[in-house]
Amino acid sequence: GAAPLIDTFCRRVSYLRVSVTDRCDFRCTYCMAERVEFLPRKDLLTLEELDRLCSAFVGLGVTKLRVTGGEPLVRKGIMDFFRAMARHVASGALRELTLTTNGSQLAHHADTLAACGVKRVNVSLDTLDPDRFARLTRRGRLDTVLDGIRAARAAGLRVKINTVALKGATEDELFPLVDWCAAEGHDLTFIEVMPLGETSIEERLDQYLPLSDLRARLAGRFTLEPLAGSTGGPARYVRLAETGQTIGFITPLSHNFCESCNRVRLGCTGTLFTCLGQEGTTDLRAVLRASADPAGIEEAIRAAIARKPRGHDFDYSRGAPTGAIRRAMNRTGG
Ligand code: GTP
Ligand code: 5AD
Ligand code: SF4
Repeated sequence: GAAPLIDTFCRRVSYLRVSVTDRCDFRCTYCMAERVEFLPRKDLLTLEELDRLCSAFVGLGVTKLRVTGGEPLVRKGIMDFFRAMARHVASGALRELTLTTNGSQLAHHADTLAACGVKRVNVSLDTLDPDRFARLTRRGRLDTVLDGIRAARAAGLRVKINTVALKGATEDELFPLVDWCAAEGHDLTFIEVMPLGETSIEERLDQYLPLSDLRARLAGRFTLEPLAGSTGGPARYVRLAETGQTIGFITPLSHNFCESCNRVRLGCTGTLFTCLGQEGTTDLRAVLRASADPAGIEEAIRAAIARKPRGHDFDYSRGAPTGAIRRAMNRTGG
């Protein structure tokens, strides 16, 4: 096959995250403004264009594809896209086809996702308190998400809960979430809040809870066994000896993991982001729309990977970060 995608820092790109829409039925406070303007639909890649582009990446050695948003399951016809990607799962080219979702529509789609070869889903859930959930997501309902999670499990999918750890706001729930995941048999990953989107850096850093703190607190209650294995994502994992459960930590601020970065993101308009924390981008939609020739797409992808930056600058290695990245998470593909 084609030569793999390797950047100038000798990192191999094998993981593509695809945002299929910037829309979302929630408005999580750390992700979006309350009143946001979504992109006109004509700016989005069509499902057919998404298929062409993702298939090109698979042809270049991408083995893990994660569908994100916004909320991916609010995109009309999105199951057609999953069905299209199912062929790469069936051929063995894609080792993992998966999604990150807020869970609101999961009950409707769990069976189809499983039929398309999806084995596990990541569901964002920051609190188990219904009122707090409503405030944090501004329009979500906790019970709908819990129904979605149950449906996913009933369809045979593994569930990983993603929790953004928020100082003050949800700090007191981190242990209850650990216990709940142990009881329900879900994996759990905590994430440090990042200064992205229409925010002041001060506002985000106020909510920033270094996960080293949480890890230390967990160590006071459980025996933590570091796990070497990786899902190919950025999390570092431990096993709690007492419960056997797996807990992940995603620490973009306190412990930068760019050195082992294996991923790029495709935004919903066909913009390729080779780093979540940098502004450099490549417009693949223009390439797609200019010609049906796969060679042109491949060349544009390779050129973009060759410019992949070393990493982001909002970690704490040089002191507190000084600027937020204006681009919102929902356009970049969480
Ligand atoms: P697994 O396959 O379960 O390991 O998934 P994942 O962690 O790769 O994907 P998920 O969508 O669950 O990612 C969780 C969060 O981690 C994302 O929403 C981001 O907040 C953060 N994240 C993922 N990749 C990167 C990255 O390259 N850089 C930074 N700074 N954060 C990332
Ligand atoms: N910092 C960290 N994580 C974020 N997410 C959204 N915005 C931010 C942010 N500013 C997370 C969501 C979800 C994933 C798609 O991205 O909680 O788990
Ligand atoms: Fe929607 Fe996810 Fe952003 Fe919340 S974090 S508003 S669920 S895209």
